[in-house]
Amino acid sequence: MAVIHIHPEAESLARAAARLIAQEACRSVEERGCFAIALAGGVTPKRTYEYLAGPPFADLLPWRSTHVFWTDERCVAPSDPRSNERMVREALLDHVPIPPDQIHPMRCGAGGTAAQYESLLRTFPVLDLVLLGLGGDGHTASLFPRSPVLHDEERWVAPVPNGAAGAGGEDPRRMTLTTAFMNTVAAVVFLVSGVAKAAAVKQALEGHGDPMDLPARLIQPATGTVRWLLDQEAAALLSSTSEGEAG
Ligand code: 6PG
Repeated sequence: MAVIHIHPEAESLARAAARLIAQEACRSVEERGCFAIALAGGVTPKRTYEYLAGPPFADLLPWRSTHVFWTDERCVAPSDPRSNERMVREALLDHVPIPPDQIHPMRCGAGGTAAQYESLLRTFPVLDLVLLGLGGDGHTASLFPRSPVLHDEERWVAPVPNGAAGAGGEDPRRMTLTTAFMNTVAAVVFLVSGVAKAAAVKQALEGHGDPMDLPARLIQPATGTVRWLLDQEAAALLSSTSEGEAG
C-alpha cells in the first residue's frame, strides 16, 4: 500500500519533504544510532535539499550519524553540470556538518564500478530511506522502461548503458540502484512535482499495464513503506486527490 500526500505547490512540497527526511533521520538515529539515506538526482529534489541545508533542518538533522548514498548517477565527472553528486553537494552537503567519509557518491564517471558500490552498501545493515523521482515516461532512478536492468534480481547496483534515457546516445552511461535492492529498504519516498508528471503518476498509482513499461510500479518494498509526496499538478489526474492510501 502506498500512502499519498498532496501539497498545494512545489514550494510547500519541498518543505514537507525536508520535514519528512528530518523526522526519519532523527527517528533512525534514536532507534539504531545511524541514518542511511539514498538521494535522488534530477531537478525536482534540489529545492528539498536546499531546505535541508538551512534552518531549522540543518541544525535538526543528526549529520554526524548520517550516511548519504545516491540512487543513481550519470557517469560524468563530479564537476560536470549533469552530475547528481555535484547537484546534491552544491544544494546540501557543502553546507552541513556531515563527515566527508560519510558521503558515498557513485563516481561511475571516475572509474567506480557497480560491484564496488554494492560491496559498500552491503556493509550497511539497512538503508533507512530511498528518495526517488519520477520521469514523464515512468522511469525512476535510472530504471528506464523495458531496460534489461529491470529483470536484475541479484545485483543491488547495475550499470546502465548510454542512451537508455532515450536521448539518442547523448545521455551518458549511468549507474543505478536496482529494484531488487530498493525492495529491501525500510522506506521509499517518491517526490514528484508538476503537470508534466501527472500521467506517469496516475499510471504508477492506478495503472494496470505491464510494469516493465512503467518501472516506478516495480518499487514495492517487501516490508518497507512507500510514500508519494506530490503537488496538486502532479496529482491532477488521480481518481481521488484526497490524501490516503492507493495501489
Ligand atoms: C536522474 C534521476 C531521475 C530523476 C527523474 C525525474 O538522475 O535523472 O535520478 O530518475 O529522478 O528523471 O527528474 P526531474 O526531477 O529532473 O524531473
